[in-house]
Amino acid sequence: MRLLVATQNQGKQQELRSLLSLSGVELVFPNELPSVANLDVVEDGSTFAENAELKARAFAQASKLLSVAEDTGLQVRALGNKPGVASKRWHLGSDLDRNQALLEQLNDKTDRFAEFVTVACLFDPVTKSPEYFVGKMTGSISSTIAVGTGFGYDPIFIPTGETKTLAELGMAVKNAISHRAHAFKKVRSYLEKAL
Ligand code: IMP
Repeated sequence: MRLLVATQNQGKQQELRSLLSLSGVELVFPNELPSVANLDVVEDGSTFAENAELKARAFAQASKLLSVAEDTGLQVRALGNKPGVASKRWHLGSDLDRNQALLEQLNDKTDRFAEFVTVACLFDPVTKSPEYFVGKMTGSISSTIAVGTGFGYDPIFIPTGETKTLAELGMAVKNAISHRAHAFKKVRSYLEKAL
């Protein structure tokens, strides 16, 4: 079975290569397929599920391959669960710019609780029916920006039960406990049953 992993994000690609490694499933990435190499999907849905489906559907229809896409966001309780679905676009600039801006917004807040939410969508171009898989990870926002691995908000997110940020904990730990890991374990089980 060929499965198109519909993301151009290098950090996500690296995680998903490991999370989706499954015998009988050949993973394909957009840059390896001319039909979707330059496909850019506008993520204008109002929920994680809508955005994940927009991407999975577009890639599946263009490639004619079973495709999986995901949308992720960070919900910060003291900010009324923002930035949420706008996690990438609420503040223009780099990941570092967004981390700095978020720490500034939380400057006077004692409640540092936050949660990552991932919704993965598997889309079959033949049946055209989407399947959704949700994964979450709770934690808190640190007071400084750490140096380490990962991407996005990893340098400022401390998972529940840990004392270090995801960036410091490294990819092996992140892939055992993360929102994306929880969602994609469900994708794996679904594919295992379908194989
Ligand atoms: P998107 O799912 O690619 O739209 O990501 C939304 C925002 O969340 C971007 O700013 C990403 O960098 C960030 N993000 C997504 N997944 C993670 C993660 O696993 N760790 C940290 N930040 C993430």
